[in-house]
Amino acid sequence: MEKKLRLDKFLVEMGVDTRSQIKEAAKKGRIRVNGTVEKRTDRKIDLETEQVFYDGKQVSYVETEYYMLYKPQGVVSATEDKLHRTVLDLIEEKQRKDLFPVGRLDIDTEGLLLITNDGELAHRLLSPKRHVNKRYYAWIEGDLPDTAREQFEKGIVLNDGTMTMPAKLEIALSKADGLQEGIMQTQVFVTVQEGKFHQVKRMFEALGCRVAYLKRVSMGPLLLDEGLCPGEYRRLTEDEILGLKRQM
Ligand code: URA
Repeated sequence: MEKKLRLDKFLVEMGVDTRSQIKEAAKKGRIRVNGTVEKRTDRKIDLETEQVFYDGKQVSYVETEYYMLYKPQGVVSATEDKLHRTVLDLIEEKQRKDLFPVGRLDIDTEGLLLITNDGELAHRLLSPKRHVNKRYYAWIEGDLPDTAREQFEKGIVLNDGTMTMPAKLEIALSKADGLQEGIMQTQVFVTVQEGKFHQVKRMFEALGCRVAYLKRVSMGPLLLDEGLCPGEYRRLTEDEILGLKRQM
C-alpha cells in the first residue's frame, strides 16, 4: 500500500529539526527530494519510493522502533527530566522523536524496559484487563509470613486499602546473606499483571517487609536479554515484536 507523509512531518518525526527550522532550511534550499531542491514543506513524500536529503544527508523513515533496555538504577523512566538522566537518553541510536518507555520502573529498580513509539502495543501490554505478566526478581528484608504465597495468590490489600489483582510469589532463596553482610534477605520472584505505583514494594510493605532490590526480568513473552549489562540496550528481533503483538 502506498504511504505518503508531508515532508515537514517526515523530518520532525525523524528528529531532524523543529517544524519552523525545517521551513527555514527548505527556503534556503537545504532540502532535496530525489535529488531536486524542494522548498514546499507541505509536499507529500511517498515513503516507499522517494528519498529525502537534509543538508546533503539522507534521512530514512522508520515508522516504529522497539528497543529492549536493561534499565540501570539512578535513571528515570520518563521522556524528560530536569534532574536525572532518562531512559531515553540511553538509547543513542534512536531515530524517532516520539519514543517512550512502556510503563515505569522506579529510579532504584533495574531491569527490562521496552522503549517504543507503538502506542497501541504499549496500551495493551499495560492494561490490567489484558493480564500481561510482569515478572520481577527481588531481595526482601524482614520476615515473610508463612501465608505470603497464599496472600499474593488472593491479591494483597495495600496499606492505603486498595486491593491488588492476584499475583504469584516464588521463593528462590530463603534468608541468606543479603546485599549488605549480616543482613538476611529472601530472594523471590514475583509476577504481577498490573502496574500500580510502586506495586511490588507496596505489596511487600503490606506484609511488613521491605524490598531491598528489585529487577524486572520479563514482560509477557519478552525476556530481559542476559547478554545486556545495566544501561545497555538492543533492538527487538522480529520474533520478539511478533511475540508481543500476539498478546494483543
Ligand atoms: N513495582 C515497584 O514497586 N517498583 C517498580 O519499579 C516496579 C514494580
